[in-house]
Amino acid sequence: MKKIISLLVVALFAASKLYCQIPDNCITSAILSAYSEKAYVTEPVTDQQLDLVLRCGVKAPSGMNRQPWKFTVIKDETTMKEAINNVVAGNVLIIVSGTDSQDGTPPDMFACGLATESMFVAAHGLGLGARIYGSPVANINSKKDLFQIPSGYTAVAVLRIGNVDKNVDAVSAATPRKSAEEIINYKK
Ligand SMILES: Cc1cc2nc3c(=O)[nH]c(=O)nc-3n(C[C@H](O)[C@H](O)[C@H](O)COP(=O)(O)O)c2cc1C
Repeated sequence: MKKIISLLVVALFAASKLYCQIPDNCITSAILSAYSEKAYVTEPVTDQQLDLVLRCGVKAPSGMNRQPWKFTVIKDETTMKEAINNVVAGNVLIIVSGTDSQDGTPPDMFACGLATESMFVAAHGLGLGARIYGSPVANINSKKDLFQIPSGYTAVAVLRIGNVDKNVDAVSAATPRKSAEEIINYKK
């Protein structure tokens, strides 16, 4: 019995690897089907899911590999509500902060944005919901001690992850995009 289970696990792992190698694969599917969920249930994000999401953020690329960021994980409901008032227990907030420069220039928003997006996609790949927030950042930066933002860093974005309320119709909840023709311009 143990052997059969091991074989099944190996076969499933191999199939998932193969799935990720075909043109329409698990990563493109996660990106194309994801939207920024607003409605969540209280089923908690597991430590294993959170760890994977964070590892994807740590792995994000950055200019000259400076990795100019810190990720602050907030799980307690009271502090989460100080940032986003409609969070529910079981959500997790990841505050992405960028390194303060010596000359007063803003943190590397581009690199921090890439790390945030990597974690957004990772969360969706794991079947979780996620939404990026910019609006709580000013409040967070005015209460750095409360949110325990590391010294020398400024919050630039908040990623909320959680289990999605499946009663919400994903198609109508998603925001439409401009047409590809409007955005993409091929040099002739
Ligand atoms: C940099 C950035 C900041 C955002 N800030 C907020 C925010 O403060 N509040 C909010 O509700 N959504 C925020 N969003 C989510 C956007 O509104 C959402 O990504 C966009 O409407 C597309 O929605 P969809 O992913 O559901 O299609 C932000 C997204 C990004 C990328």
